[in-house]
Amino acid sequence: MRDVPRRWLVTGAAGFIGSHLAETLLALGQDVVGIDNFATGHRRNLDEVRGIVGNEAWARFTFIEGDIVDLATCRRACEGASFVLHQAALGSVPRSLKDPLATHAANATGFLNMLVAARDAGAQRFVYAASSSTYGDHPALPKVEENIGRPLSPYAVTKYVNELYADVFARSYGLHSVGLRYFNVFGARQDPDGPYAAVIPLWVRNMLRGEACVINGDGETSRDFCYVANAVQANLLAALTASDDALDQVYNVAVGDRTTLNELHALIGAMVRQSRPDCAIAAAQHREFRPGDVRHSQADIGKARRLLAYAPTHDVRAGLQEAIGWYVGRFS
Ligand SMILES: NC(=O)c1ccc[n+]([C@@H]2O[C@H](COP(=O)([O-])OP(=O)(O)OC[C@H]3O[C@@H](n4cnc5c(N)ncnc54)[C@H](O)[C@@H]3O)[C@@H](O)[C@H]2O)c1
Repeated sequence: MRDVPRRWLVTGAAGFIGSHLAETLLALGQDVVGIDNFATGHRRNLDEVRGIVGNEAWARFTFIEGDIVDLATCRRACEGASFVLHQAALGSVPRSLKDPLATHAANATGFLNMLVAARDAGAQRFVYAASSSTYGDHPALPKVEENIGRPLSPYAVTKYVNELYADVFARSYGLHSVGLRYFNVFGARQDPDGPYAAVIPLWVRNMLRGEACVINGDGETSRDFCYVANAVQANLLAALTASDDALDQVYNVAVGDRTTLNELHALIGAMVRQSRPDCAIAAAQHREFRPGDVRHSQADIGKARRLLAYAPTHDVRAGLQEAIGWYVGRFS
């Protein structure tokens, strides 16, 4: 990559995963265009990336503040891009249940705009953030790519629609894509604020503030928590694969483990106490199960291992160590 710098477009670059992709690509000597409308992302994430990569690398970054619901903006962003890493979307199952139109606009219409713009700009690869929510009510564990159930939320519908559109664009127009079904990605810069915050940043912040964490349901709900470095690795492998068999596919991106919310609470509590021995960790409070949530989630990552040579570098424990270090630095 360093020998032949290319132009990459990262949508959602001011968000959590997008900012990590931009950071890694800039550190690898690439030219990066980022687009974001700050719906859920923050300028401070871009500022942090700038601080990490340094001014020389930052000079290779171009930022477009814009909305992917506007096709002209997508076209501008795609100009000259060899690779598109499409992350921009409105995350969160509860958000989509509350406001399905907003989720549809960003995640379905915005996605289709990005496909059209990438196709017309002649992008080589279109790698996009799909989601484990596409497994919906399918009961099998671990989750294998071809066995999906009915979506349980408008968010899940939009993420499945993404896969359908990407597949049709590959067959109809030859736009090669790779869908990455992320499973509960976590790490530095994941936003702990707002009503739709993900569980790990929310709990770490609550514990650092001495506040109790809320568990939806009995706490035996489980997830395959995936550290962001693994997701970044999957994106780069997908964009750069030389294997035709690997293209126009969807892949699970996770670790292949399962951690219950009760276990997660204990794990985070122990790690927070380790870095901040003065922190009194309150017992978790339980409330009703949340509508739209799947009960268990665990990925079979065999397909990504086989076709992309994906090899996660961090299990949940190793990822939490790094992530918690970051949050402690910010919220102490
Ligand atoms: N974090 C996870 O666990 C997870 C799991 C499955 C899928 N995903 C998907 O991964 C992608 C990135 O998620 P994230 O966790 O980094 O969330 P995030 O909210 O931090 O990042 C999304 C970014 O997209 C931007 N955005 C939203 N709508 C936009 C629009 N219309 N135009 C331009 N920018 C827009 C937001 O401002 C934000 O910066 C999303 O597509 C999400 O659905 C994430």
